[in-house]
Amino acid sequence: MFEECTKVDALVEILGRRLGPPPQVAVVLGSGWKELASDLLENTEGLDLRGLDNWMCPKVEGHGADLLIGDLKDAPEGKARRVLLCSGRVHSYEGYEAAEIVRGVRALVNWGASHVLLLNAAGSLTTDRPAGSLMPFSDHINFGLPNPVRCGENCGHGAQFVNLVDMYDPAWRAGLLEQQPHLQEGVYVGMKGPSYETPAEVRMVAKMGGDAVGMSTIPEAIAAHALGAKVMAISLLTNMAAGIEGSNPSHEEVLETATANAQAAADVLRSALLAATV
Ligand code: HPA
Repeated sequence: MFEECTKVDALVEILGRRLGPPPQVAVVLGSGWKELASDLLENTEGLDLRGLDNWMCPKVEGHGADLLIGDLKDAPEGKARRVLLCSGRVHSYEGYEAAEIVRGVRALVNWGASHVLLLNAAGSLTTDRPAGSLMPFSDHINFGLPNPVRCGENCGHGAQFVNLVDMYDPAWRAGLLEQQPHLQEGVYVGMKGPSYETPAEVRMVAKMGGDAVGMSTIPEAIAAHALGAKVMAISLLTNMAAGIEGSNPSHEEVLETATANAQAAADVLRSALLAATV
């Protein structure tokens, strides 16, 4: 995997050359988050990722393929921060290995981002979190997503026994919840996908202690944490998971709910950016 390391290093070099100083906070926008996110920044510069060697470009509808870097608009005194928005991600279910899924995040952290904010869409496992709710991760259960610190995926290093206690930075999350007290944190369950879960699987993961279910984010969170970055993740709950209240999820429903809740998502994103202790 020496080759993987070379690819990450090459990306770091390109990012620095094309976009200048690194961001303090790097954000990966999943389904539904990108509509209004760019409005949160000013003095922006963009980079089209298509055609950039070694960057894994998203193909799933709802994910873009560009980077936007800039300053958080209207930041209160002492809260100025340089932020990078990555408009999409690649997933395990598209056939990628862990190292490929996390390559972009590794490059962003090695370039200098001290904080990584991972956003996604997920299905709700609890009736007190209706579609449209936003859920900061308190923790996760990995139900089959590939682990990027496994030997062979770990960017030239061997297997790494990374401690995942408090991987989703409690202080950063507390700062978000202070600004957005209506948010309810919870446990994200990561499934392989791309089929949605069966109702029986949904009942199982809810009983195991999950609050939301999705198909992404965990590999990037582990990779960023292993490199020493502070990590926060937030799900936009776009639907009730299969079988809950008769739910029969579809990608159309996910995209529709995401669009309908884009403003609330952007408000929470801004609060999360302000809460980063950069
Ligand atoms: N299950 C898995 N992933 C998802 C869901 C879901 O119900 N909704 C959005 N992403």
